[in-house]
Amino acid sequence: MFEEAAETAAMIRRRAGIAPKVALVLGSGLGAVAEAVEEPLKLSYQDVPGFPRPSVAGHGGSLILGHIAGRPVAVLQGRAHYYESGRADGMNLALATLKELGCARLILTNAAGSLRADVGPGRLMLIRDHINFAGVSPLFGLAGNERFVDLVDAYDPAARAAIAEIAGRLDLPLAEGVYVWFCGPHFETPAEIHAAQVLGGDAVGMSTVPEVIVARLLGLKVSALSMITNLAAGMSAEPLSHDQTMRHATAAAADMTRLLTAYLEELADD
Ligand code: HPA
Repeated sequence: MFEEAAETAAMIRRRAGIAPKVALVLGSGLGAVAEAVEEPLKLSYQDVPGFPRPSVAGHGGSLILGHIAGRPVAVLQGRAHYYESGRADGMNLALATLKELGCARLILTNAAGSLRADVGPGRLMLIRDHINFAGVSPLFGLAGNERFVDLVDAYDPAARAAIAEIAGRLDLPLAEGVYVWFCGPHFETPAEIHAAQVLGGDAVGMSTVPEVIVARLLGLKVSALSMITNLAAGMSAEPLSHDQTMRHATAAAADMTRLLTAYLEELADD
């Protein structure tokens, strides 16, 4: 379906000489997680066909290959967002390339606003499910019956249980909830946030959902973690801004790194 991916994967394999089983996408302010990669080979997205050209401060735009906790990984620092182009398929080729490289598992991270007053800035939230409030799909325009992707248990239940168990052992408070995707780049209105709460959301953000959809089409096992950077619109007196997102994301990146490192260390090959 994504024919160019095989050729790009072969090029990456020649350069890196490793076969990553797990891919990690880093959200805003989470660049520090990339520092956990041992013996990294860093490729600029510009040199990798089909990879996005991010335009957001805090999104580096590199593919890093190496090991975390002894496990071969591909780390994507920076992602394409729907709001940058009005297209939701900006990560399709990159994710298809990772699958071709041998990745069976995808771990997505993002910065998000909390819909729950009891889960404030700096906390981590494991995503259990999502609501697609942007109303678009990364699969628009694809042909064939595979495009009718089943999204039940899109967020791998076994991985969720393992991550929650590890967080408990590390004494790291981990909320769990439903992520609501808004298109951005503007923040939401208080009325939209109220609606998202009533509909059963726990966090809001501008990414991740299209990646989950295409990853499930590709058959990857998916996990996703939000770093809460703010209470959502109307829930606090602090004005919303990208600066605020970056400040809190950077502060909580250490917790995210600990959790992901411990999870990768314990992950059995599959
Ligand atoms: N809304 C949408 N996206 C976000 C937010 C928010 O409040 N915080 C971080 N990313």
